[in-house]
Amino acid sequence: MVNLTSAYEVLADAYNGGADPDGAGLNDPTFDALVGDLHGLRVASVACGQGRDTRRLADLGAEVVGIDASESLLAHARSFEQETPRGIEYLHDDAQTLGRIPDASFDAAVCHMALMDIPELEPTVRAIARILKPGGWFVASIVHPCYKTPADGELIDHVDGSTRRIVGRYFDEGPFNSVTRLEILPRVAYHRMLSTYVNTFAAAGLPILRMEEPVGERPVWQTVPGLLYFRSQLAAAATVSTTGTPLGAAGR
Ligand SMILES: C[S@@+](CC[C@H](N)C(=O)[O-])C[C@H]1O[C@@H](n2cnc3c(N)ncnc32)[C@H](O)[C@@H]1O
Repeated sequence: MVNLTSAYEVLADAYNGGADPDGAGLNDPTFDALVGDLHGLRVASVACGQGRDTRRLADLGAEVVGIDASESLLAHARSFEQETPRGIEYLHDDAQTLGRIPDASFDAAVCHMALMDIPELEPTVRAIARILKPGGWFVASIVHPCYKTPADGELIDHVDGSTRRIVGRYFDEGPFNSVTRLEILPRVAYHRMLSTYVNTFAAAGLPILRMEEPVGERPVWQTVPGLLYFRSQLAAAATVSTTGTPLGAAGR
């Protein structure tokens, strides 16, 4: 048994009701495009919550293990699995260590809308790199760190009536304590600069190879992106640098 609680524990029922109440699975074309064909792949969903992304991964052909720190959200996920079995396994574990998961045991991993809710990024990314096989890939989506910052908001252009996104305190990394965000966010969210994400993934041997910034529904999200997606990948095999230092998968 892992001694672990998630800030989401108290929000579990509310979150479950809003995320995917009928258990149909995630409906997110950008996510689908980034993960691609999953037949024959063993995929870990890190911080899977009530399982909307695990169900989508399974429907796309993957063998899926969902991992989360909230027992209450996992209970919702398991009850959807009981209702409509897809062969998904759920584990209670900390994304910052993934201590219940052996090294090099997955072809791929995802983390949908959760990296900014996990307190420590660097150990999380290292743990994800550890559980991937050589050449394994990782897909994540996050709240866009450039357009949703600890001091953000919107104003109306008095000339054309359009809404503009305003941002501030971009450099203030840490708990997301904005007064302009929903009341729950200070308890669960962490702001990091875009460069922190990019550099942390590169340092863990999982460099980002592709990013997507989809257009959102609200008019303001049609002028700037509210979400950021990326796909990163481990080196396919061990390579040795000119100084003899092992790089890539074997150098983790
Ligand atoms: C916004 S929810 C996203 C859940 C799911 N991926 C989805 O898209 O619906 C963020 C999730 O991160 C989980 N979480 C936060 N910190 C965690 C940690 N240290 N280890 C594992 N899960 C964590 C929460 O329990 C919650 O389920």
